[in-house]
Amino acid sequence: MDLQLCYNASEDTFPLPRYIKERYGPFGFPAPADAHRPYISSNFVMGLDGRASFRELTDRTDGNVVSRSREDRWLMDFLRAHHDGQLIGASTLRDEQNPEGRGWDYGIDDEELRRYRQDTLRFGRQKVLVLSGSGNIDLTLRIFSSPRVEAWIITAREGQENLRSQLKGLGREGTIKILSVGEGTRVDLVAAAQLLRQEHGIRTLLCEGGPTLYGEFLKNQLIDEDFRTMSLQVLGESTKPGIDRPTAYGQVSYTPGTAPWFRLISLHYALPYHAFFRLRYEGPRTFQD
Ligand SMILES: NC(=O)c1ccc[n+]([C@@H]2O[C@H](COP(=O)([O-])OP(=O)(O)OC[C@H]3O[C@@H](n4cnc5c(N)ncnc54)[C@H](OP(=O)(O)O)[C@@H]3O)[C@@H](O)[C@H]2O)c1
Repeated sequence: MDLQLCYNASEDTFPLPRYIKERYGPFGFPAPADAHRPYISSNFVMGLDGRASFRELTDRTDGNVVSRSREDRWLMDFLRAHHDGQLIGASTLRDEQNPEGRGWDYGIDDEELRRYRQDTLRFGRQKVLVLSGSGNIDLTLRIFSSPRVEAWIITAREGQENLRSQLKGLGREGTIKILSVGEGTRVDLVAAAQLLRQEHGIRTLLCEGGPTLYGEFLKNQLIDEDFRTMSLQVLGESTKPGIDRPTAYGQVSYTPGTAPWFRLISLHYALPYHAFFRLRYEGPRTFQD
């Protein structure tokens, strides 16, 4: 592990072990501007061209992994340790298969960070929330039986019916927490965020993608911070027609006047291939000519 600190203007609210603080500097969140929903951060790795996935290359041994950095893996665990809940979109769950084909559980691998979350922060078992409108999720994936995490699904009415009937077919009724927020297959994200804060104790939420989910959160002004790993490689476009290698930002579109800006909170790097930005959402800026 060779994480280097370049700049860090973070709040200093978490009781980091000394060896982590020496490497990372202080870490904390500000008081939330909106107490009705969690403080929401996102974490992505992206290439120099902004793309976040080799998408269609799932059958290759080198897979569609963008990061390939031990420091990035450690920082992901560091962020998971500090948030009450993690959120991923259903397509990420469907796309990201491990060699055994049972998917990942999105748990913390670093043993020291896992113990720090459990014993020092006392945040309990990791909660990994999957967002799906359709409810078309393979409930036999590892995430739904891993002892390291508690998996919840956030969906709307039709997705809930689909998931309940799948669970019934598997003889596992009532074993997965399903929150239904909205009609049909669309989840009302603002209402879902409020529900998580007010009825399920989620004070901080880490959005781990993918780009569609992140873009919707950004559109709904539900992003407070971005953690961005810049991996110094170029992904380029897919050669397969109809396949889009997405940027981290999904389907958003702005003008110079509406484009949201982010303020730099910290910058770390790991030579020679990775830079790690922590950014805080500010919204559109005005300029005087
Ligand atoms: N580089 C990185 O750090 C990173 C991080 C994460 C993912 N990725 C990559 O990104 C790709 C997947 O991203 P993606 O943009 O295609 O998909 P995604 O954001 O992971 O998931 C999209 C899905 O989330 C559900 N969803 C999103 N908003 C919703 C809403 N308002 N109401 C109901 N459901 C909603 C829908 O699920 P249903 O279809 O079930 O209705 C939708 O199809 C993968 O290749 C993955 O490897 C990269």
